[in-house]
Amino acid sequence: IRQLSVTSECAPFVKTGGLADVVGALAHVLKEHDVESRVLLPLYRQISHLSAGAKEVRDVGSKFGGPVRILSTQASGIDLLLIDAPHLYDRPGQIYLNEAGADWTDNHLRFGLLSWLGAEIGRLGVDGWRPDVIHAHDWQAGLTPVYARQNEDAAPPSILTIHNIAFQGNFPATTMGDLGLDPKGFTQDGFEYFGQISFLKGGLVQADQITTVSPTYARELLTPDFGMGLEGVLAARHTDFSGILNGIDTTVWDPATDPVLAQTYSSRTLAKKAVNKGALLDRFGLAPDPSAPLFSVISRLSEQKGLDLALLALPAILDQGARFVLLGSGAPELEGGFRDLAHRYPDHVGVEIGFDEKLAHQFQAGADATLVPSRFEPCGLTQLCAMRYGTLPIVSRTGGLADTVIDANAAALAAECATGFQFAPTSVDGLGEALDRAMEVFGDKKAWQRMQRNAMKHPVGWDHSAKRLVDIYKAVQRR
Ligand code: ADP
Ligand code: GLC
Repeated sequence: IRQLSVTSECAPFVKTGGLADVVGALAHVLKEHDVESRVLLPLYRQISHLSAGAKEVRDVGSKFGGPVRILSTQASGIDLLLIDAPHLYDRPGQIYLNEAGADWTDNHLRFGLLSWLGAEIGRLGVDGWRPDVIHAHDWQAGLTPVYARQNEDAAPPSILTIHNIAFQGNFPATTMGDLGLDPKGFTQDGFEYFGQISFLKGGLVQADQITTVSPTYARELLTPDFGMGLEGVLAARHTDFSGILNGIDTTVWDPATDPVLAQTYSSRTLAKKAVNKGALLDRFGLAPDPSAPLFSVISRLSEQKGLDLALLALPAILDQGARFVLLGSGAPELEGGFRDLAHRYPDHVGVEIGFDEKLAHQFQAGADATLVPSRFEPCGLTQLCAMRYGTLPIVSRTGGLADTVIDANAAALAAECATGFQFAPTSVDGLGEALDRAMEVFGDKKAWQRMQRNAMKHPVGWDHSAKRLVDIYKAVQRR
């Protein structure tokens, strides 16, 4: 099967969150399932180095306001098709935001072009290669199935994956002409959404199959509490909609070989993990104390992640001696909140505001436990990485967090299968209660180590889910 991923992010090249990890990992994993995968990605200034050695495979001419070319290259073992459109992608700032932190005002064109080219390559192929199936990711590629259906010529079937329904790509109806959308589609059962154009809704209506990134989130998305206005659209398509759990790249996240750790380790040499804890405490100038657990957070700082709750729940365990470190960036009030916490507890709390891939690995290796108190979480990858590193996740019972962590309740402890701590509802008290339970188990070294070993044994890779995706690729072709 030849598969084209249409995406705005791909690790290790350009990443703001889990979407990049998933697309990058899939590009590798699908190969093991006889899928020839290529990734269509904008050539942002941040990755302009990738154009060196790339070959031009199509001169598209002037599109969406400027000249557009498609370049082909291979990097980090991934076959890339890069969209060279300097007027849209060669600029400072971040990939979605300008230097002032606001959305680029032409994001509809930037990701309209991505979507449109996904459909074009589907229809016509490029460089003698035409995909059998198009896999579009999130709103940025949401219009791909729309453009594919808009054309008379047959395009291959498309799959749209929802990584996060909070981002829908809604733009004024006046952009319809610039986007080259057929006004006939501007209806309630098309891409129209409360008077606007919705990239995501358009895709949800037109894709042959829809997936999201965990079974629980798939169910949640059908409810008004989680569907964010699109629950009805999804309900209408429920027979073509499924939740397939994400995995992580277990070669990138492997404590036995990870080159950035102070000390590598495995479940058989768990004691060596302590060296990483020492190094992490040292980095933040925090006093070492083996009897005190080190909690961590690695996260975007946004409403979704529930970290305002952590700010309120943490002092109770910090007062008992626990240590806490955070790596993250985002909402200024949360950045400020955690900086304040570090000022209040200079010997117990370390905060690094920023995005740092290497430090994320060192956090996973050094911490005893990691907090993911999300209000909603389509899948979540940090709890998977944590488990692989023997760092116990403390998570709210929602979305993919509910599907990946086995709560240390009495039954799970008796059956010796617990891998972390879950709480519900997502509240300060809920989180506080889970932190108390973690403190208690931490005091029982044997019980804690058993949980660490369970967590490290838990399958967090792509084996199972990649098979399910490939089944979907095959099924849509038979239609
Ligand atoms: P989301 O995609 O909603 O941000 P996920 O848990 O799926 O959440 O994925 C987050 C990814 O981004 C993980 O690989 C995590 O390690 C990484 N990450 C998040 N914040 C940072 C940061 N400040 N520095 C480095 N990596 C980060
Ligand atoms: C989104 C979600 C996250 C998920 C990731 C990859 O960013 O917020 O839960 O793990 O996509 O699918």
